[in-house]
Amino acid sequence: MKVRPAVVADVPAIHDLIKHHAERQKMILRGKDELYATLREYMVAEAQGKIVGCASVHLFWSDLAELKGLAVDPTYERRGVGRALCDACHADLKRLGVPRVFALSSSGGFFEKIGYRRVPKESLPLFIWGECTRCPSFPICNEEAYVLDLADSPAIPS
Ligand SMILES: CC(C)(COP(=O)(O)OP(=O)(O)OC[C@H]1O[C@@H](n2cnc3c(N)ncnc32)[C@H](O)[C@@H]1OP(=O)(O)O)[C@@H](O)C(=O)NCCC(=O)NCCS
Repeated sequence: MKVRPAVVADVPAIHDLIKHHAERQKMILRGKDELYATLREYMVAEAQGKIVGCASVHLFWSDLAELKGLAVDPTYERRGVGRALCDACHADLKRLGVPRVFALSSSGGFFEKIGYRRVPKESLPLFIWGECTRCPSFPICNEEAYVLDLADSPAIPS
């Protein structure tokens, strides 16, 4: 399995992965127009010529980014794809000099496994909540907030 920055040819597969989990209320559905517009934020995991996972990072400010759009092909779950995608995103944020990343998720066990800590949602700045009305669960929030301080996270082999 290889993790690499996404290219335009990956967009249909990224869209399918996100749609699969969005239909199960796990994440926000993103249209292909939005995926093309934000494609530079995405990493994909490729195995046997197939896109089996995707993830993105969105910068909010000099010291804060969000890890979002994380979706793994259900037939490839629990095989390290999600962790590998997050490692690649964290490495990119370290390269950019961003010290902290957060995720909003109902899959908190995964984020805690890879080193994030759960924090009160109110501890995150208000400006991060702009996409809430697009969430399949809105207005009943079933997500928790998780934070990783990248300076404290182990070095990621390149
Ligand atoms: C959550 C998700 C990204 C995990 O991907 P994955 O490829 O299965 O995760 P990995 O195999 O890399 O797992 C890494 C570790 O987390 C654990 N883990 C994975 N999913 C977990 C979960 N839902 N709860 C608890 N632990 C979990 C794994 O067992 C593994 O532990 P280990 O290192 O001790 O073996 C994937 O299940 C998914 O796409 N879910 C739907 C979309 C979603 O919830 N996205 C996140 C919010 S944007």
